[in-house]
Amino acid sequence: MINVIGLGPGNTDYITKLGEKLIQNSDVVIGGKRNLESIVDFEGEKIEISSNLKEIVEYINNNKHKQISVIASGDPLIYGIGRYLSKNIDKEDLNIVSGISSLQYIFSKVHIDMNDLYITSSHGKTPDFDYVLSHKKVCMVTDKIIGPKEICKQILDRNLEKTIVVGENLSYDNERITIGSPEDILNLEDFDMCVVVILDKN
Ligand SMILES: C[S@@+](CC[C@H](N)C(=O)[O-])C[C@H]1O[C@@H](n2cnc3c(N)ncnc32)[C@H](O)[C@@H]1O
Repeated sequence: MINVIGLGPGNTDYITKLGEKLIQNSDVVIGGKRNLESIVDFEGEKIEISSNLKEIVEYINNNKHKQISVIASGDPLIYGIGRYLSKNIDKEDLNIVSGISSLQYIFSKVHIDMNDLYITSSHGKTPDFDYVLSHKKVCMVTDKIIGPKEICKQILDRNLEKTIVVGENLSYDNERITIGSPEDILNLEDFDMCVVVILDKN
């Protein structure tokens, strides 16, 4: 069985008990560098994922007799590896264990419900900002190119009234949550790894 396990936003306190148990019972754990570093108690084989997703799937398909866990940050099916693996590995071999997403985490921190939320990402693409900003409540996972400042410029270009929440390094010791207008956010220093919540002002 291949487990795909969501680790939560980063701090190991947020891993589910089931996820933790499956990892401990695995022969092999596959994951990105940051995620592999977080499972300190696991003594089996670790394989790092860089951009070699095809090779990872080949490895998994050739080693089905092993207990393999692929670990992913947050929830694997929210802009994570879960999508690729569910398309490339037989359903009956796959066990996906959801985790607490960085998106869920930021909403609980600012006490705002996630009802009717539009979820999107700027990873490796330019979002359609007319469409994104037409929603009352948005959460975007971001990359280094399109982050909080670019989003705020897009809002100001359209003369929209929005409130922005930037959640950086969520659940880590250096977590920082900033709430402000697009103008406020543009006046700040650059941001670390973050999710951005965009809310209609009313
Ligand atoms: C490939 S996506 C993975 C999202 C993940 N599956 C989830 O559910 O949180 C990576 C992006 O998620 C966001 N992210 C993940 N963990 C984060 C954290 N601890 N703090 C802030 N943002 C985080 C950042 O926007 C980061 O660039």
